[in-house]
Amino acid sequence: MGQTIGRRKFMGQVGLGAAAALVYPSFKVLGANDRVRIGMIGAGGRGQELLKQVVGIPDAQLVAIADVFKRRHDEAKKIAPAIKTFDDHRRLLEMKDVDAVIVASPLHIHARHFVDTLAAGKDLYGEKTMTWSIAEAEECRNAANNSKRVVTIGLQHESDGSLADARQWIKQGLPGKITQVESWMSRNTPHGKGQWVRPVPPDCTPGNVRWDAFLNGRPARPFDAYKFINWRLFWEFSGGNITENMVHQIAWIMTALELPVPTSAYMSGGIFSEKDGREVPDTIAVTLNFPSDITVLWRSTFNNNRYGLGERLLGSDGTIEHLSGTNDMVTGKSKSAIQFYPEKVNRPDGVALKGESRDQNHMANFIECVRTRKQPNAPVDIGYRSAVAAHMANLSYRSKRAVTLEEAKGMQLSMQG
Ligand SMILES: NC(=O)c1ccc[n+]([C@@H]2O[C@H](COP(=O)([O-])OP(=O)(O)OC[C@H]3O[C@@H](n4cnc5c(N)ncnc54)[C@H](O)[C@@H]3O)[C@@H](O)[C@H]2O)c1
Repeated sequence: MGQTIGRRKFMGQVGLGAAAALVYPSFKVLGANDRVRIGMIGAGGRGQELLKQVVGIPDAQLVAIADVFKRRHDEAKKIAPAIKTFDDHRRLLEMKDVDAVIVASPLHIHARHFVDTLAAGKDLYGEKTMTWSIAEAEECRNAANNSKRVVTIGLQHESDGSLADARQWIKQGLPGKITQVESWMSRNTPHGKGQWVRPVPPDCTPGNVRWDAFLNGRPARPFDAYKFINWRLFWEFSGGNITENMVHQIAWIMTALELPVPTSAYMSGGIFSEKDGREVPDTIAVTLNFPSDITVLWRSTFNNNRYGLGERLLGSDGTIEHLSGTNDMVTGKSKSAIQFYPEKVNRPDGVALKGESRDQNHMANFIECVRTRKQPNAPVDIGYRSAVAAHMANLSYRSKRAVTLEEAKGMQLSMQG
């Protein structure tokens, strides 16, 4: 009874009509004083950052975590001492007092955790990249669309003010026809220390890790602590820097320009920086072609950090330039800003603009949407489109040729890499 009144009251507040399409019914309607009760699957490096974010949100309460590595239970309890801990995510999903689940497990287990979370009737914050493969991305998108659950993907730049600015300028037609986007991401590490390589903690032993659950259907083998900790470096668990970082920028670009999945992709590069046994490349050049006369370029190196990270949307009437962490040639200072520069040839009276929209808190946006049942800033659709673009690039690299969307969907590269 209380639930019915709560829901009616809620629908009355938001009104029907246009908003109805984007509003999802809640499993349990949260009252004004109820906090959103959060569980987490995979409480490693990123998971613990997200736990701290949740602790900082008054409308949310951490209830439980599930992780196959015992050490993570202790680490998570340091952040939220009252939580329950499990080594099997299914036990967490059985909990009635969990409303929403954050998934921050390694990439190759995202799809299982995604689908199981929705099947358990929980709302979902799923870390990027949404899935390890295109087939899984389709499965997860279907699961989300067929459920009434609120789903957001950990593509936090979808909540950035820079994206709101870029969208507004594009909507106003300021850049004219954009035919090319150049984007890049660069890092560096001390000699001999490969990017991402993490030390194996002494308690990372077969007795403390549910290794079979980590493998998640990959061929059985003896416990390998290095791969368990450094899964990012190996194809069977990871998509390398494409699924770690390109996906953030490609999602931002796709949302800004309302791009569908690419028609074709080409990726070249290799392991050029630190030949430390990793399988995924550290030097990358990607070309993604889209049906709407746009080519997007993304390049990346782990060998030089000078130009940080950025995107330039090149239009006939102007350029949108978004820079993060790029060192200014003259001052040596790091810049982070979004700007519009007119092309004098087609916009002679145009003036340069600086974006001023504020960033939203991506986690707070999710929590708010769990309460309001509205669509979050990074819904499943951008998770899907950015995942498909990422996997097309990797499939091209691994098959050493350009691939079309149809070819990529049909490609069955061995899971073992
Ligand atoms: N949005 C971002 O900016 C951002 C930043 C970093 C990482 N990430 C993403 O977060 C995810 C996790 O990355 P990470 O660096 O935290 O990795 P991690 O290895 O530090 O953490 C993963 C955790 O999952 C646990 N785990 C493994 N198999 C499990 C299973 N079957 N059930 C439950 N737990 C399991 C591991 O024990 C580990 O604690 C990745 O998808 C990564 O791409 C996102």
